[in-house]
Amino acid sequence: MEVLIRENKADAMAMAARIIATWVRRKPDCVLGLATGNTMTEVYRELVQLHQSGVDFSRVRSFNLDEYVGLPPHHPASYHFFMEKHLFQHVRFARSYLPDGMASDPHAHCAQYEEWIRSEGGIDLQLLGIGEDGHIAFNEPTSSLASRTRLKTLTPVTKSTNAREFPEGETIPSQVLTMGVGTIMEARHCLLLAFGLKKAAAVKAMVEGPVSAMCPASALQYHNRCTLLLDEEAASGLSMREYFKAAESGKPEWQQKLLVDL
Ligand code: F6R
Repeated sequence: MEVLIRENKADAMAMAARIIATWVRRKPDCVLGLATGNTMTEVYRELVQLHQSGVDFSRVRSFNLDEYVGLPPHHPASYHFFMEKHLFQHVRFARSYLPDGMASDPHAHCAQYEEWIRSEGGIDLQLLGIGEDGHIAFNEPTSSLASRTRLKTLTPVTKSTNAREFPEGETIPSQVLTMGVGTIMEARHCLLLAFGLKKAAAVKAMVEGPVSAMCPASALQYHNRCTLLLDEEAASGLSMREYFKAAESGKPEWQQKLLVDL
C-alpha cells in the first residue's frame, strides 16, 4: 500500500484532485468508480473545480459503489440523489451507472451491474472511503473478501452512523446493493481517503492488521496499486506512520512525480 499522510484534509484533497485529474488527462475515456458519504462531498467539490478549470470529463464513465434498497432516485437520502447534488448536476460524464435500489429482481440486477462494469472495460480508478468498522462500499465485517455485487444487510453500527443522512423520523433501510470486495479489487487503481480520529482504528486494522473479513478494507493489502490518503488524525494509530512519511519524502523528485504521473 502506498500511504500518503498529509497535515490536514485540505492538503489531502488537493492530492486526491491531482491523482484524479492525472487519470482523466492521460485516459480521457477512463472509468471512475465513485463513492458517497461525507468524505466524498469534498472530493466532488474538487472535481467540480477541476471541471471548471478545464479538465474534460465528457468521455469519462462512472460506476457507483452502492445504494439503499427501496429508495427511489429522488429520495433525499438515496445515493442517486447525493451524486446528482454533489457531482452530476455540475459535471457531465459520458455515462454514469448506479445500482438501482428499486430493482424488482435485485439478484439479476447485481449480475447485470457486474456485466456493465466488464462491458465498459473495467474500473480504472476506484474512489473509496472507509467505515469506522472497516467496511468499504457496504461490505460489512464478515463480508467475503471475494464477494461480487450483491444484496447485503447493514450492521446496526452502520445503520446508526448513516441515520444522519435520513430525514428525521424516517427509518433507514436495512438492505443495500453493493459492489463486492472482489469487484473493488479488480479496479486498476484504488484511492482510499480517510480523515479524523474516528477513522484511526479502522485505518490501523486496514494497513497493519491481519487480512481478515472482520475488516473488509484489509483486503486492499493484496491490491497491487492502492493509494491511501490520510490526514494526521486518521494516521495516528499507525505504528509505521514515521516510516510512511520518510518513505515519501525520501523519494527523489522523479519518483515523487510518479505518484501522480501514471
Ligand atoms: C458509500 C461508501 C461507504 C463510505 C464509508 C465512509 O458509498 O462506499 O463505504 O465510504 O461509510 O463514509 P463517510 O465518508 O461518510 O465517513
